[in-house]
Amino acid sequence: MNLSDEAMTIKLDYELPEYPKMESCYRRAPRRESKLSEADKALAIRNALRYIHPDHHAKMALEFAQELEEHGRIYGYRFRPEGKLTGKPIDEYKGKCIEGRAIQVMIDNNLDFDVALYPYELVTYGETGQVCQNWMQYRLIKKYLEELTDEQTLVVMSGHPLGLFHSHKLAPRVIISNGLMVGAFDDQENFNRAAALGVANYGQMTAGGWMYIGPQGIVHGTFNTLLNAGRLKLGIPQDGNLAGKLFISSGLGGMSGAQGKAAVIVGVASIIAEVDESRIDTRYEQGWVSHRTESLDEALEIALEHQKAGKGCAVAYHGNIVDLLEYLLEKNVHVDLMSDQTSCHVPYGGGYCPQGLTFEQRTEMLDRDPEDFRKLVDKSLQHHYELIQKFHDRGTYFFDYGNSFLKAVYDTGVKSICKNGENDLDGFVFPSYVEDILGPCLFDYGYGPFRWCCLSRDPADLDKTDAAAAEYIKEHNRRYQDYDNYVWVRDAKENKLVVGTQCRILYQDAMGRMNLALKFNEMVRNGEIGPVILGRDHHDTGGTDAPFRETSNIKDGSNIMAEMATQCYAGNAARGMSYIALHNGGGTGIGRAINGGFGMVLDGSERVDNILKMSMPWDTMVGVARRSWARNENAMTTAAEYNKMNVGRDHITMPYLADDEIIEQAVKSMKK
Ligand SMILES: NC(=O)c1ccc[n+]([C@@H]2O[C@H](COP(=O)([O-])OP(=O)(O)OC[C@H]3O[C@@H](n4cnc5c(N)ncnc54)[C@H](O)[C@@H]3O)[C@@H](O)[C@H]2O)c1
Repeated sequence: MNLSDEAMTIKLDYELPEYPKMESCYRRAPRRESKLSEADKALAIRNALRYIHPDHHAKMALEFAQELEEHGRIYGYRFRPEGKLTGKPIDEYKGKCIEGRAIQVMIDNNLDFDVALYPYELVTYGETGQVCQNWMQYRLIKKYLEELTDEQTLVVMSGHPLGLFHSHKLAPRVIISNGLMVGAFDDQENFNRAAALGVANYGQMTAGGWMYIGPQGIVHGTFNTLLNAGRLKLGIPQDGNLAGKLFISSGLGGMSGAQGKAAVIVGVASIIAEVDESRIDTRYEQGWVSHRTESLDEALEIALEHQKAGKGCAVAYHGNIVDLLEYLLEKNVHVDLMSDQTSCHVPYGGGYCPQGLTFEQRTEMLDRDPEDFRKLVDKSLQHHYELIQKFHDRGTYFFDYGNSFLKAVYDTGVKSICKNGENDLDGFVFPSYVEDILGPCLFDYGYGPFRWCCLSRDPADLDKTDAAAAEYIKEHNRRYQDYDNYVWVRDAKENKLVVGTQCRILYQDAMGRMNLALKFNEMVRNGEIGPVILGRDHHDTGGTDAPFRETSNIKDGSNIMAEMATQCYAGNAARGMSYIALHNGGGTGIGRAINGGFGMVLDGSERVDNILKMSMPWDTMVGVARRSWARNENAMTTAAEYNKMNVGRDHITMPYLADDEIIEQAVKSMKK
């Protein structure tokens, strides 16, 4: 008898599942980079076999070897359940506690054909963001969640369920970490090797945190970003929209697919370049882009017509963004707002398609000749940047949309893109959208991407929560952000934002999040709605340390520290969130961010009320407190208000501000 087999009661079934049929209509991930030695290849196969009963090792070793060779990773395709995965109503899941069942809903929603970018490779969004590394882990996690009791915690390390451990009723039911690496090895190359060996998962943000809700999550963020960019840079009044303006960007993928929808909601005429036709088809069928064309002339004509009529539109141009920019420049078109949402956090791994290659040629070359592919990417990125500079000189406002575009250009060797002309420590010549817009206008106040999913999958539950949220915001309308959020949730249903489970995103500040959470829990208690799970994007006030994105408007030198996200995560564990996650990488790439998030199941109980009162303000105010300490004006005002409201309960340390002249004199007095 085998020692491990005898010792485990929770394990994969003895019989190997039938190899599932793979539908050819779904997108497949490109081969992932893996430079493995012979010894490494052996290690990767040996590692994957840890999930498998030895009776099947001879067969599965060959199957895994083939996957590693073809895909650069071992996904264990055989273990993928046949057919469509989807977040079913919670009652259809087995489990010994509500959290165990709720979390299964979220995992399956992240892998739904309608939601996931590469569903067979467990990639939810962001080119490489995976739920877990392979299908053996998926099956095993589900088995653990079925067994999990409300006095145990499941530990998940880079997708691997390490085991169930005794805890208590107020502890998180699941604690997740993804891709966290020891500093000296914290780079893309070591990550690629570790991922190929099957010991590291790229969780992106909500992919590995099992809280992705389709591109709706980012539609709201993009809506806020475009609207506030218009207010700050184009003189749009507080209650106006972007009618009559032109917006140009790229990417209609997992997150970037939100751009068209948000553009129409804010009334701007837009053209979005996308090299992959299948992604254009998805967005078009969904109604998230209004037009599609392969012709540059036609794309421009449609956009200009709408611009002139003051109407929003989203024209998907099937082609490369660099070609589009060259064309617009040549035609002397004035562009008001410009951005980019190619997956530049992994430019050499397939995230950025260089000018001159079709999408299919990019996939083929990536596999055949990664070194030359790299050179093409570098050349294209540099030219792309030159074009943006020309538009900037003509009055276009360009912002980096958190995809590491500027960093990717810098990495090709363009030092002049740095603010200090030397290195990336002070950021880049063009701002990140967080630096100029989202940071000061939203994050510094605590406004961030709060979200919820109705676990019954009943649209009527979502309608009731939308109505409750709209009513709450109407009563607490203090600033323009509240008004924007009110409009958003009021019109959310009409805007048909739901893909997969019945979820909603709604930017809220600390008190808004807590009060809405308590209201929803009360509605569950009263039987008005079924259970709900709350969460948020990691891309938030306090959830992420990322100097090129979330913390790019932190100017006290601490933008390179990762302590806020870590404290946020630890604090959420201490206060009993249902599950918590901490990741390396996120939207900007390995070694460039530490980010975390949570899921909180509302079952209507008083226990949940108590957790919400402790954890919801903490989750946000840790970010406001840190931003305030960095001397961010709006965060200081928010922290001061919070201290007044919470005497004897919470207390934030605030900075004294020093006079410039005093500092100047002090520096002059120094000898060296
Ligand atoms: N701003 C945010 O809040 C935010 C949130 C999440 C992700 N991101 C970042 O945005 C990027 C995009 O995310 P995603 O989930 O949409 O990724 P994705 O990979 O699903 O989509 C990117 C799309 O860009 C297309 N593309 C690549 N090169 C192109 C080119 N040269 N011209 C035209 N199209 C091209 C790809 O075909 C793909 O469809 C990522 O880097 C991600 O980390 C930003």
